[in-house]
Amino acid sequence: MFIENFKVESPNVKYSETEIQSVYNYETTELVHENRNGAYQWIIKPKSVKYEFKTNTHVPKLGVMLVGWGGNNGSTLTGGVIANREGISWATKDKIQQANYFGSLTQASAIRVGSYQGEEIYAPFKSLLPMVNPDDIVFGGWDISNMNLADAMGRAKVFDIDLQKQLRPYMESMVPLPGIYDPDFIAANQEERANNVIKGTKKEQVQQVIKDIKEFKAATKVDKVVVLWTANTERYSNLVVGLNDTTENLLAALDRNEAEISPSTLFAIACVTENVPFINGSPQNTFVPGLIDFAIQKNCLIGGDDFKSGQTKMKSVLVDFLVGAGIKPTSIVSYNHLGNNDGMNLSAPQTFRSKEISKSNVVDDMVNSNAILYEPGEHPDHVVVIKYVPYVADSKRAMDEYTSEIFMGGKNTIVLHNTCEDSLLAAPIILDLVLLAELSTRIQFKAEKEGKFHSFHPVATIFSYLTKAPLVPPGTPVVNALSKQRAMLENIMRACVGLAPENNMILEYK
Ligand code: NAI
Repeated sequence: MFIENFKVESPNVKYSETEIQSVYNYETTELVHENRNGAYQWIIKPKSVKYEFKTNTHVPKLGVMLVGWGGNNGSTLTGGVIANREGISWATKDKIQQANYFGSLTQASAIRVGSYQGEEIYAPFKSLLPMVNPDDIVFGGWDISNMNLADAMGRAKVFDIDLQKQLRPYMESMVPLPGIYDPDFIAANQEERANNVIKGTKKEQVQQVIKDIKEFKAATKVDKVVVLWTANTERYSNLVVGLNDTTENLLAALDRNEAEISPSTLFAIACVTENVPFINGSPQNTFVPGLIDFAIQKNCLIGGDDFKSGQTKMKSVLVDFLVGAGIKPTSIVSYNHLGNNDGMNLSAPQTFRSKEISKSNVVDDMVNSNAILYEPGEHPDHVVVIKYVPYVADSKRAMDEYTSEIFMGGKNTIVLHNTCEDSLLAAPIILDLVLLAELSTRIQFKAEKEGKFHSFHPVATIFSYLTKAPLVPPGTPVVNALSKQRAMLENIMRACVGLAPENNMILEYK
């Protein structure tokens, strides 16, 4: 059975006009490695830590500014939200299709809240805490191409033509602000697109972006802005001591107009300066150490990297399943071909390299979790290939071969073939990222020994479910396994309303 919404009644939860307050006992463990009776032994001590959470329930009017607004993802997301808001339906060769938010964790997935008269009861994920309704988001942003969003939607070739016709009137007047173009960081094949660029030094470019955000906020009367990079994948920036290793050095390098500061890092500097959350949906290392340091100093939310949409999402499910089942993946080979502008940009070796890195580390935590299968330092062979094939446009093909060792030296090979419009996978993920980023700025918490409430660490890990290479604060373990990432997010949101984590024990029926 499905219920639309609910309220928690418990001595641990208080709902006021402006806040939900909860007290939550975090059941965890403490590990010690001690000499007991002449031999070292691991001791695991269960412990309970009391946390308090406060969630501001005022849902703001949200503005989302996309860097790369006129790209396939940007135009698809904008059109998709307008279609939902306006209740648009359109004729396909199969049926009359209604707009929906399928593929969005917050908008289209459910959580189990308990059982009632022998039936499992589910509720929308978004009913856990008050969240912005995506229909109400005001979009804006930048692009190095000046094409309006209606034409950009046509260029993307993602939506059915009947839908495009209905969306055009809403999107024709949407024109991206000039972007920051630096041919050193993206593929040379992007040059002819770059007819809409901010001139001046890097510092002047940052100042222009700050001005753009302020003007957008004033013109749209939104309460809060979140900025998300869905522009082209850049090459990695070189990490150089004295240039981008600390806040001071990064800001001084900006003053000196140093060549090695990428456009995405410039956008991020502008956002952190203004305390506007910034999310990176592409694989490059926008978040150089000096920028992470800057975000921590300013307590400004940053998150990334690289949307986890298709092949990598499957990988972080399949390898988790295999290793969790005691099966040893020994070779993972992934081929992709795609024909959109992202594919064209990735056909240059330096930008491909960024993607290769972010796609390659995704099985590390699962492999490291099982020393029965893997010797220390042992890894499956893992190869990623991406080819540009214009004809298939946004309809990306991903082919994966997983070979594993099974019982008694046997081998098992699983082959997957995935065909899907890339931007239809990415758009709902972008939505979740901005909605969760906004929500997490309204949550404060403290552990029992902490005096004051504080926000989550500015390097946001709670939406790691949505990113291929989750950015984590220094010294924090990276979790890639999809089910763990989803459970983490769901359970933190449950804690905010005083609900225990979903433990799937269903003891009531045992
Ligand atoms: P796209 O090439 O269609 O769109 C990118 C847009 O960014 C273009 O319109 C381009 O003109 C603009 N742009 C480039 N540099 C810019 C700058 N410095 N400032 C402002 N605008 C700039 O690409 P698409 O398909 O929308 O993908 C966007 C990004 O998302 C890519 O980096 C891609 O790797 C990443 N991504 C996409 C996924 C998907 O499933 N679609 C999954 C994971 C990541």
